Amino acid sequence: MAAKNDTHTPTSSPSARLRTLMSQSNIPAQQYALAVLAKQGEWGVIVVDVDKPAPGEVLVRIESTGLNPLEWKVQTYGVQVTHYPAILGADPAGVVVEVGEGVSNLAVGDRVVFQGTYTNRLAAYKQYTVASAETVAKLPDNVSFDQAATIPIVAGASWAGLYGKKQQLGGAQLTPPWEEGGLGKYAGQPFLLFGGASSVGQIVIQLAKLSGFSPIIATASPHNAELLKSLGATHVVDRNLTADKLIETVKQITSEPIQIVYDSISQKATQNAGYDILAPGGTLIITTPRTIDEEKITEDKPVIRTYGSLHREQNRELGIQFYRHLPKYLESGALKLPSVEILPNGLNGIPQGLERLKKGQVSGYKLIARPQEATL
Ligand SMILES: NC(=O)c1ccc[n+]([C@@H]2O[C@H](COP(=O)([O-])OP(=O)(O)OC[C@H]3O[C@@H](n4cnc5c(N)ncnc54)[C@H](OP(=O)(O)O)[C@@H]3O)[C@@H](O)[C@H]2O)c1
Repeated sequence: MAAKNDTHTPTSSPSARLRTLMSQSNIPAQQYALAVLAKQGEWGVIVVDVDKPAPGEVLVRIESTGLNPLEWKVQTYGVQVTHYPAILGADPAGVVVEVGEGVSNLAVGDRVVFQGTYTNRLAAYKQYTVASAETVAKLPDNVSFDQAATIPIVAGASWAGLYGKKQQLGGAQLTPPWEEGGLGKYAGQPFLLFGGASSVGQIVIQLAKLSGFSPIIATASPHNAELLKSLGATHVVDRNLTADKLIETVKQITSEPIQIVYDSISQKATQNAGYDILAPGGTLIITTPRTIDEEKITEDKPVIRTYGSLHREQNRELGIQFYRHLPKYLESGALKLPSVEILPNGLNGIPQGLERLKKGQVSGYKLIARPQEATL
């Protein structure tokens, strides 16, 4: 998918070129990082040490890093982290510059993507970070760093929500398409998605397609209909319809019971509408805390909130599987990535980008920053 101003689009043999470049590079002792300076405080660029990779880890020079709505929530509400300054960011893509003891699947110069987390050692709003090698995917040459940095967090919400265990902060426990019998397994079963144009929604549509669901019905603003159809949605329903009208429209599209509803938006209105339309025995997957009217909740219609962090122990094995299969999905085009807009001023430009996410000003594409550009 075309990037809005992605000049990182790879040319021929980027891996070989980078391998040469990286072998000549020096790893600095310190780096710039963007952090929330105090609980509910300002963002600021700080200087921190570059970590050494432990056994089983690699050190990666981050070329592109993705922004997520959770990051403005962490800063505004003072949630999720307890240490300050807190370096955030969890969507790094870059180049392996050092390999820890015992790592055999990666080498210096490899172009990679993986999921970070909001600890100062593993976060991605900085210039270098470490990662456990078994959770790292090599990038095929048809995917740029900017495109790759759209993947980790939104894909996490998608694979954990669809294929994670049926438990709180889990998933609907569907069979993943990379497991035996998983590809196309749910043929003929409808899938309803709230927020098809969100970054999470775009990946969910494509995983639902690999899983075989049909029809795939997604709500979105009408101007995003063609985009969603290009990803695999069979029907796009205007997200501004009332809940009653939405239910009526879905019933006109399919008479099959809706057993899977994925609400990537998870506002009170979408959660309630999703729950109303869900058939007994089905599962509603939500991405933020539950706000459904409590009196309607019944045992035969479980609501599962997903939390797509590979760094949660219960998600780790599924996440490793996803990253193992990711290169082939990217290379074949089975997984297309959202368009990107590159923010100016590297790490320093991130707070303004998060402000736009907070105001709901980003529609159908993902904001990316390039951490190698940063100033105090
Ligand atoms: N649990 C987790 O692991 C996890 C991981 C990632 C994100 N999240 C959460 O999931 C949510 C989505 O994140 P994201 O990064 O995908 O967001 P995003 O890309 O910033 O979402 C923006 C999109 O939301 C759509 N939208 C807004 N309100 C809508 C509504 N009422 N109905 C349908 N579509 C609506 C808009 O679609 P249109 O342009 O078509 O109007 C817009 O394109 C956030 O709350 C985020 O915090 C959770």
